[in-house]
Amino acid sequence: MKQEKNIIPEILHVAMVMDGNGRWANERALARLKGHAKGADRVRHIVRASLDMKVTHLTLFAFSTENWKRSESEVIGLMGLFKKFMKSEAKKLLINGVKVRFIGNRSRLDKSIIKLMDELEFLTKENDNLNLTIALNYGGRDEIVRATKKISEKVKLGLIDIDDINIEMFSNNLDTFELPDPDLVIRTSGELRTSNFLPWQCAYSEYVFEKSNWPDFNKDIYEEILIEFKTRERRFGAILK
Ligand code: FPP
Repeated sequence: MKQEKNIIPEILHVAMVMDGNGRWANERALARLKGHAKGADRVRHIVRASLDMKVTHLTLFAFSTENWKRSESEVIGLMGLFKKFMKSEAKKLLINGVKVRFIGNRSRLDKSIIKLMDELEFLTKENDNLNLTIALNYGGRDEIVRATKKISEKVKLGLIDIDDINIEMFSNNLDTFELPDPDLVIRTSGELRTSNFLPWQCAYSEYVFEKSNWPDFNKDIYEEILIEFKTRERRFGAILK
């Protein structure tokens, strides 16, 4: 008898801009970091919900290349939260079949955080229930510039010809080379911006701008968004028959 594992699930890639932690904290007269801590809690909840709802790929915008402009204490606090999350969740992620990857520019990250990222990627590399990608020190423009440099280097060394450069090979040089393009992007907190999040990959993605701040985002809202998304007609630039 064929095992259920052999049935290939339909790919569903949801990307999320987790916005509104600061406002959530402000509204409660709490420090911004308390909002981020509550936000980390929501990450656990949303990973669980994604597993339950058979989302195959979940990509979360955790820290942007522009977030270094925040106060030193907020940046240090956020890095501490990321480390805490990686340490405390590693076992649970492994047991639940979650494969974790990180995208973004590692050059400015602390060695101690890179070590935890490498360990978590290695620990979970054989998993296939959910592909969780965490964008850490990620910026779409930075990613495109880094990909361009990688390709230029190969041209310079004579490994490839300029005519070999096309959309597919460019995509294969981005941090997301192993991932399908996002089907749906959800941004919380009511802001109507894309903020340099996967600009190349989201050329044909659907968007939902959700009113709730990230710490209030939950499975019920997520499920409603997915139900509405499934009613959308996606044309990818073509004309419907
Ligand atoms: C945006 O809210 C949120 C961030 C810059 C950080 C996102 C981080 C988390 C959700 C914490 C933990 C994440 C992981 C992966 C463990 P904001 O601070 O810009 O909110 P505001 O616009 O209301 O000020």
